[in-house]
Amino acid sequence: MGVVTGGASGIGRSLAEGLAAEGAAIVVADVDEAGLSETVKRIEARGGRALAVRTDVSDRAQVQALADRAFSALGRVHVLCNNAGVAIWGGLETATHRDWEWTLGVNLWGVIHGLEAFLPRMIAQREGGHVVNTASMAGLIASQGLGIYNTSKYAVVGLSETLAKDLKSYGIGVSVLCPMGVATQIRASERNRPAKLRNETPAPAPVDLIGRTLDPDTVAAMTIAAIKDNRLYVITHEEGLEPLRRRFQRLEQAILARKP
Ligand SMILES: NC(=O)c1ccc[n+]([C@@H]2O[C@H](COP(=O)([O-])OP(=O)(O)OC[C@H]3O[C@@H](n4cnc5c(N)ncnc54)[C@H](O)[C@@H]3O)[C@@H](O)[C@H]2O)c1
Repeated sequence: MGVVTGGASGIGRSLAEGLAAEGAAIVVADVDEAGLSETVKRIEARGGRALAVRTDVSDRAQVQALADRAFSALGRVHVLCNNAGVAIWGGLETATHRDWEWTLGVNLWGVIHGLEAFLPRMIAQREGGHVVNTASMAGLIASQGLGIYNTSKYAVVGLSETLAKDLKSYGIGVSVLCPMGVATQIRASERNRPAKLRNETPAPAPVDLIGRTLDPDTVAAMTIAAIKDNRLYVITHEEGLEPLRRRFQRLEQAILARKP
């Protein structure tokens, strides 16, 4: 039994379909109701079971209501995928308060709300389980023009690393998904920005990504394999290796060259 937020599109839809193909009944949550219906239709067409619950993950009460619906519909929840997210581009020096509120509301508070709503009941089940938090390679490497997104995703990586330690004794595993480019609608994230958090000026254009653009089904398959093996890091692109190495070399250098 699984719950996937951001399940109306992209990686979330692929995760929902992939988990359903493994035999799990799925609750998909998203703000995009048409996209949710399509996900449910696709799962049902292959003989799976799925339920859509419209949910804005930045709203704590809505995520609590999602958990209530999920536990009453499924009885138990074993896999929780906190995946809903939005991307935003532009220099930190020009970021607006609304930019911060929107992005952290979905990408960070969305994950926190998911944990608050689901974890107590997952622990009480005493059957173990797994939490997947979708971060990004942008949660491990900072890029110019991606500062708000970097902030949100670094937080999700840190949270997940600690969560894995905290939940170990309950038999609940944690994976943090850190992809580079994936062929989804992420570059059109502004479509989901609520009117009250829109800027008066148009959003800066997305920056070009380095590395390959993977298919979301491939990323979902890698994530499901990591759930089965209980692996913490799901790093989907080998192109991430060099920038990660350079980052750790800089950290090492900071220690070696410290003064006084
Ligand atoms: N596509 C990439 O290149 C890439 C790379 C790294 C990380 N990610 C992360 O993957 C996750 C999934 O994104 P995707 O690439 O599939 O993009 P996507 O835009 O195709 O899907 C994201 C989904 O989240 C939903 N969503 C947005 N705001 C929401 C809210 N407030 N409440 C509930 N749902 C909301 C959207 O409606 C959409 O269905 C995100 O966390 C994203 O940051 C994507």
